[in-house]
Amino acid sequence: MVRIRGIDVHPPLLNTSCAWASDLQQLTALYDCPHTGAVSTRTATLSGFKEDSSHTVAFLTGSLSSINSYGYSPHPLSSYITWVRTLLERDPSSSKPFIVSITESDPDSLRKMVMAIRDLCAEHPSWHTRIAVEFNASCPNIKGNPPPSYSFSSLIPFLNVFAEHFWADPTLTIGLKLPPYIMTTQFHDVIDGIATYTRQHSPSGQYVNPFAFLTCTNTLGNSLVFSDQTVDSGADGSFFALPPGIGGLAGEAIHSLSLGNVYSFSRFLAESTDPALREIVIIGAGGVTSPEAVARMHRAGAKLVGCATLLGVLGVAAFAHLSREQLNAADH
Ligand SMILES: Cc1cc2nc3c(=O)[nH]c(=O)nc-3n(C[C@H](O)[C@H](O)[C@H](O)COP(=O)(O)O)c2cc1C
Repeated sequence: MVRIRGIDVHPPLLNTSCAWASDLQQLTALYDCPHTGAVSTRTATLSGFKEDSSHTVAFLTGSLSSINSYGYSPHPLSSYITWVRTLLERDPSSSKPFIVSITESDPDSLRKMVMAIRDLCAEHPSWHTRIAVEFNASCPNIKGNPPPSYSFSSLIPFLNVFAEHFWADPTLTIGLKLPPYIMTTQFHDVIDGIATYTRQHSPSGQYVNPFAFLTCTNTLGNSLVFSDQTVDSGADGSFFALPPGIGGLAGEAIHSLSLGNVYSFSRFLAESTDPALREIVIIGAGGVTSPEAVARMHRAGAKLVGCATLLGVLGVAAFAHLSREQLNAADH
């Protein structure tokens, strides 16, 4: 069992936020799956994202990879709050938590969203152990809105909102969804930036940071795939795999980069002189398509492992597939 601040995750496997965790039916299947230790919801905004036919996904041939041009969920946060409440009420004896993924382009809207999640947690004495919140700071597909996580100074107004809420309610489990970074300085910028939020908590005297987990990595933006490289080979006569051409690459094509990100963050956090940073849990994602890839994520330093592309290909059977070795071991 892996504990992240207030929530317990067992087994240490989950879906990461994605288009296949959009509605109540998909969330119910993820929640009912015995191989998921938690369920992440698709990233919601306060009022819902305007989705059209340019927002889509394609799967590559020759490697279990995807490219997508999706923005955020068309469903507003209020829908996810209703669905999470429905599932938590349906099954009070379960301890499986939800990670509610949210984002906004302005801090005031984000503040309202975090408040709405805090209000949900307050509806039942045990729900702060069943609900975490993840700030998606790394979607590469939003026109005119580059992911704030590529420049730490753009992240600060949003992190301030989360920190404000955390100090008002330190039971809140908060994480950040980060993009694939490629330079050592980028990891240090994030870690040094997060460290500025650590405080000594009275009366225990313990050092505490509002941010309890990092999910690494999101998709790799500005990627290009031609339609003849996809499983449907451009059957509709299109030139590019996605209508906009450019999109976010995921799956096996980014596995090594995601592993490198997980390894760098876990190493730098473990070496930190700030005891609160050493507590931060890494959720590893990116090209997890086999039990071997799950094991590699753990070897790189992830305590929890997630997948999206494989969920898109196999549905919730993805999690039995990723648990194959553990199942085999249990049989012998
Ligand atoms: C179709 C699709 C939609 C996604 N939507 C989201 C999203 O709404 N929020 C988010 O934080 N990440 C999103 N992601 C990124 C995934 O959560 C994950 O970080 C990334 O795809 C790497 O994992 P994978 O290789 O298992 O796909 C999406 C990925 C895909 C493929």
